[in-house]
Amino acid sequence: MELTTQNTSINKQLFGDDFIWGVATAALQIEGAHDADNKGENIWDVFSAKKGKISGGHHHYIAVDFYNRYRDDIDLIKQLNIPNFRFSIAWSRILPNGEGPVNQAGIDHYNNVINYCLEQGVEPWITLYHWDLPQALEVKGGWTNRDIIAWFTEFVNVCAHNFGDRVKHWMIMNEPSVFTGAGYFLGIHAPGRTGLSNFLPAVHHAIMCMAAGGRALRNILPDVQIGTTFSCSYIEPASDKLKDIEAAKRVDTLLNRVYIEPVLGLGYPKEDLPVLKKMEKYIHPGDMEAMQFDFDFIGIQLYTREIAEYSFFTPYVHASLVKAKNRNVPLTDMGWEVYPPAIYEILKKFDKYDGIKKIYITENGAAFPDEVKGDKVHDPKRVEYLQNYIAQVLKAKNEGCKVHGYFVWTLTDNFEWAEGYNPRFGLIYVDFETQQRIIKSSGQWYGDFIK
Ligand code: FCB
Repeated sequence: MELTTQNTSINKQLFGDDFIWGVATAALQIEGAHDADNKGENIWDVFSAKKGKISGGHHHYIAVDFYNRYRDDIDLIKQLNIPNFRFSIAWSRILPNGEGPVNQAGIDHYNNVINYCLEQGVEPWITLYHWDLPQALEVKGGWTNRDIIAWFTEFVNVCAHNFGDRVKHWMIMNEPSVFTGAGYFLGIHAPGRTGLSNFLPAVHHAIMCMAAGGRALRNILPDVQIGTTFSCSYIEPASDKLKDIEAAKRVDTLLNRVYIEPVLGLGYPKEDLPVLKKMEKYIHPGDMEAMQFDFDFIGIQLYTREIAEYSFFTPYVHASLVKAKNRNVPLTDMGWEVYPPAIYEILKKFDKYDGIKKIYITENGAAFPDEVKGDKVHDPKRVEYLQNYIAQVLKAKNEGCKVHGYFVWTLTDNFEWAEGYNPRFGLIYVDFETQQRIIKSSGQWYGDFIK
């Protein structure tokens, strides 16, 4: 089968030699080895063990066994000519209790990964927090407890001291809106808490930690590039009725603005999302300054567009999203609309913030139901998705937007949080029974494209 659309308008040269190309992963989704080498328990270990939390009753205990197979997988990154590899550090491998004694086996593991990357000519990009809070800290209130600023700073310090001599690019956090929204408001991600009284303090402390983590890192490693990543969706109103337009604005504020604006010194956008006025009680004197940090770059992670409409019954935002499956639009296996201009629109939006110096797309990709035929996995839809989104990144770049890099989500099929192993996002197919890897045609395409 031929690709449905070959997007010939893009080639690597059009992005210039300095443009960063990479692939992104997260510890919990790939590592497995959930209790190896004195690792402490984390909130996903506990959440996955509860009935009905993960689709299909799946768990991440083995995942794709990256913990043991990292050499082979980094070899595949090299084989695909991918120069930059984003991965995260599991806090509970380094500090099994979240604080206190350091686990040398955890440090050794990440030193091995980093060293092997460098030996293969692959640049390591570290995410410090990709959602796997040590359970010992969750027991003390997790992100709702203000002490997390001290706990998190300690974790950042340990990582900076141990890995900072070799790692030049760091991201403090992955998508605070998702781990606070899904984990502390909706209860569909670990630790499964719900309601505003969990959500608001978690949001505030996550933002405080982004800035505190940035300062801690800069203090120890003044010369490295420090960023943090945000989940973004392009939001449009369902109609041109004023109520829908205002609803879309509240959704845009919640999903795209709440976490970045305090960091840039703009405070919480409470005029556009009145429920944020309830945040007051968690804000201590000096916090508005303490939430600010001058990041070297911002990571944008974008997959889709959402359509918002007014809803009387939805508390706090009074808006709901019109499901993509009811809109007669192309969908991925996550039920997300395929809408390449979304990445262009969000790049243009973030580019307008004065305080943002540099943007990288730190995640973009798609889940489709891949099939093995013979020894091949042909995934034309993913190729087309990547080509069309990358073309929109180029469009924004050509219009002067300060976007400097792009990372595909993700290297291999893996554990997709509450969705378990059903959605396959990888450039590389994994048979989860045998751990056999097969490079998909999208992996081949991306490798040829960035060669
Ligand atoms: C992002 C997450 C990442 C992955 C992709 C599909 O929100 O950062 O871990 O699950 O979505």
